[in-house]
Amino acid sequence: MNDLLTVRDLESRFKVGGGLKSLFSPKTYIKAVAGVSLDLKEGQTLAIVGESGSGKTTLARAIAGMGEDASGEVLFNGQNVLALPKSDQKALRRDVAFIFQDAVSSLSPRYTVRALLLEPFQIHGMMPDDPDAEVTRMLTLVGLPATMADRRPHELSGGQARRVGVARALALGPKLVIADEPTAGLDVSVQGEVLNLLNDLREKLNLALLVITHNLNIVRHVADHMAIMYLGRIVEIGETQDIFDHPKHPYTAALLSANPTTEVDVADGRIRLEGEVPSLLARPPGCEFHGRCPFARERCTYDPPEVRTAPDGRRFTCHFPLGPDGTPTE
Ligand SMILES: Nc1ncnc2c1ncn2[C@@H]1O[C@H](COP(=O)(O)OP(=O)(O)O)[C@@H](O)[C@H]1O
Ligand code: SF4
Ligand SMILES: [Mg+2]
Repeated sequence: MNDLLTVRDLESRFKVGGGLKSLFSPKTYIKAVAGVSLDLKEGQTLAIVGESGSGKTTLARAIAGMGEDASGEVLFNGQNVLALPKSDQKALRRDVAFIFQDAVSSLSPRYTVRALLLEPFQIHGMMPDDPDAEVTRMLTLVGLPATMADRRPHELSGGQARRVGVARALALGPKLVIADEPTAGLDVSVQGEVLNLLNDLREKLNLALLVITHNLNIVRHVADHMAIMYLGRIVEIGETQDIFDHPKHPYTAALLSANPTTEVDVADGRIRLEGEVPSLLARPPGCEFHGRCPFARERCTYDPPEVRTAPDGRRFTCHFPLGPDGTPTE
């Protein structure tokens, strides 16, 4: 299996400040994504997890070629997405689909499902010969009855709307699907349904799937690989089973633990850990997690940990990785 997606040292930044204040303070940049490297093959699912503000959306957008100020390398089928001439960007849009949160229910109530499903074809000037048959095919693919075609977004349940969103994303036969919190705001049972659907379609269509989600139970069941982000960096990445069995990075351990300090907020689905997330304007020296890490030692306060590779192939950044018993081995 060849790598469909190769990301190396990706950085994505935002200009902050500006407006009247900028007369008094110079413009500064925050690195919302820093030093991210990952690989994804056809048929694989990589889940990205991390607290709110950890850079998940910014990373996903940069990979899809929608990042504003991104540098490094994003190779899709060997082509650098970050340096793609305008003429090739449209083709990229066909190969890389993005499922936005609430992509369908936020659309104009004037559209029917039929119109929504045909829109991608229209945009790309690829209208199928038999549009109705195509709409039925797409609805069937995502487990909806053909009669849904006449409905409008506000007439759909949350789960149905997400299914239409998935169908729309798959319309042009993408090779990579990026789903940014595709189940946020849904009941837990419906969340499972939508992610299982994505997973089934991944298998059936041999898609690569990059899914951002806060639902760790679902990560465990649908993603063969996972990456954990903190302050825009990947702190641990590897096979989901290995990471769940035995997290090496203390941040991963905190996220995965059933510890009462790890809380998934029911109202907005955000993962919350104890302690303040540092500001991106003032990244801590040394290991950026040291202020919240129960295992921090003096070295952690000044020496930034390098990326290390474990025998099982996972990569992590910590001076004192955890052993299977959940305490540092070194
Ligand atoms: N358009 C923007 N302008 C300035 N800062 C942004 C913008 N979008 C996101 N950020 C900042 O970048 C960081 C990462 O945001 P984001 O990628 O949305 O995180 P996540 O998806 O993990 O919640 C946050 O600190 C956020 O405030
Ligand atoms: S390097 Fe130190 S502070 Fe950072 S995660 Fe590892 S033990 Fe904790
Ligand atoms: Mg986000």
